[in-house]
Amino acid sequence: MQVVKASEMKALDEWFIKEVGVPAEVLMERAGLSVAEAIFEAYPVETYGSVLVVCGPGNNGGDGMVCARHLVNLGYEVEVVLLAEKETYQGEALTNLKVLENLGFMPEEVGYIVEFRKVLYDFSPEIMVDAIFGTGLKRPIEGNLAAIVEEINLYRETRGCKVVAVDMPSGVCADTGEVLGTAVKADLTVTFELPKVGQFFYPGKEYVGRLKVCPIGFFKPLVEKKAPKRYLIDLEWAKKVFRPRKGYTHKGLFGHLLVLAGSKGKSGAGLLSALGGLRAGAGLVTLASTRSLQPVYASMLPEALTAGLEEGPRGEVSYANLESLLDLCEKKTALVVGPGLGLGEEVKRLFWELLERVKVPVLIDADGLTIASENPERLKELPCPKVLTPHPGEAERLLKISKKEILRDPLTSAKRLSEMTGAVVVLKGPHTVISSPDGREGISVWDVPGLSQGGTGDVLSGVIGALMSQRYEVFEAACLGVFLHGWAGEKLASEKGPFGYLASEVANKIPEVLKEICD
Ligand code: ACO
Repeated sequence: MQVVKASEMKALDEWFIKEVGVPAEVLMERAGLSVAEAIFEAYPVETYGSVLVVCGPGNNGGDGMVCARHLVNLGYEVEVVLLAEKETYQGEALTNLKVLENLGFMPEEVGYIVEFRKVLYDFSPEIMVDAIFGTGLKRPIEGNLAAIVEEINLYRETRGCKVVAVDMPSGVCADTGEVLGTAVKADLTVTFELPKVGQFFYPGKEYVGRLKVCPIGFFKPLVEKKAPKRYLIDLEWAKKVFRPRKGYTHKGLFGHLLVLAGSKGKSGAGLLSALGGLRAGAGLVTLASTRSLQPVYASMLPEALTAGLEEGPRGEVSYANLESLLDLCEKKTALVVGPGLGLGEEVKRLFWELLERVKVPVLIDADGLTIASENPERLKELPCPKVLTPHPGEAERLLKISKKEILRDPLTSAKRLSEMTGAVVVLKGPHTVISSPDGREGISVWDVPGLSQGGTGDVLSGVIGALMSQRYEVFEAACLGVFLHGWAGEKLASEKGPFGYLASEVANKIPEVLKEICD
């Protein structure tokens, strides 16, 4: 499913209205009806009989007015309040206000908190519909409006009233998930045609409740073409991209992943990356590291091939390995470079000169990213397809902006980094996003606190590396890798508890999710 920002949704709305000729009234009618039907399904009239519909000044308020009519048809007792003066309504919202009045509704203007409180506590609704602001929110909610939003939240908490948001919980920015001033806490959000970016990002995500996406009269094949190529990376997406294996296969069909990783004191990273690679189905994995680590790796992960490289004085692979590494890259189908690699001068030189000459797809992680952050633009000149997997701290070093700014708007940060480096960027975080230089974007559905632990990123590098080695296109490999890794974490969380499981367990869970994706 594609995910849109407010301006993109507005453009689609306008395009369908002006170019295709779908009347705006039809869209509003269907929007309001779908909210009423969603309420009927989620909160049966026998238990939740009364609904207060709170309408804002724009078209979101208009959707609320339509919803009110249909709720009466479905058997609810309904009252409507307007947070703007009647004279200010325009277009389809005004049309629907008139329809309401013609039907005998007496929507009250309640611009002040005292007026709102009076209606609220006199009526004591079991459901409230938040039709204050949708995608048209432009600035922070302040003054009386803010007091009304907080009263809605207080009433919900203290009276157990269900709150249903129309399109967006009012106050949540549709583009970033930021709360502008204050925001309505919804139990259910009914959004239209396509989900909005802000519904998947904190803190907004916590205000959305259950999300239901309803069609309102767009034409699917056109939406797919016209909407931005920004995808929700969920099971539906993963199933489309994933290639199940046929009966007759051999390891040569699934590529050979080379992992260049590990140094004195940082040996685990390489091991976890290689384990992730094997669990995600690379035909072969070779783990290349210093000579002193080779026997450790060989004994701990007998399924991987190992290569022992010359060791420099810091216990890191030395520059002298350049030619032998290039030989090692021959016949490999993907390279992961960076986990636990070290940051000495020799490694840095080796890193750049190696990447300037390899042609296979390369994933750069951890120390590789720290080295790259000294000159991230140089990545663009490399001839190989690239994936970068920074966490917000690494992205901070690469982009030279604060972690706070990165977390405020991860999609934009990932896009900037992708444009700067020419790489597919997997920006890890509470909500991982993926950005490709050709404009495609992915938003992970997983939100697994237990994955915030050392080693899980190394596993992810191996999982994506394995998919690249199996010749998945790099953006698809990155998105699918994020999906499989997150799902494995989610499964562990539901079996073992929210955190405390090990990175190796995440890797070992991958076959189970691979099985489910094939089912
Ligand atoms: N404080 C006070 N007022 C604010 C604030 C704020 N913080 N933020 C925004 N506003 C005002 C705006 O100024 C605007 O008022 P104005 O029209 O008087 O200038 C109003 O709030 C806009 O808010 P919304 O109702 O969220 O925005 P919009 O009118 O663009 O509608 C929409 C959004 C289309 C209803 C969307 O959320 C939705 O529900 N879509 C469903 C489909 C639908 O109904 N489509 C057809 C509608 S008709 C058409 O598009 C022409």
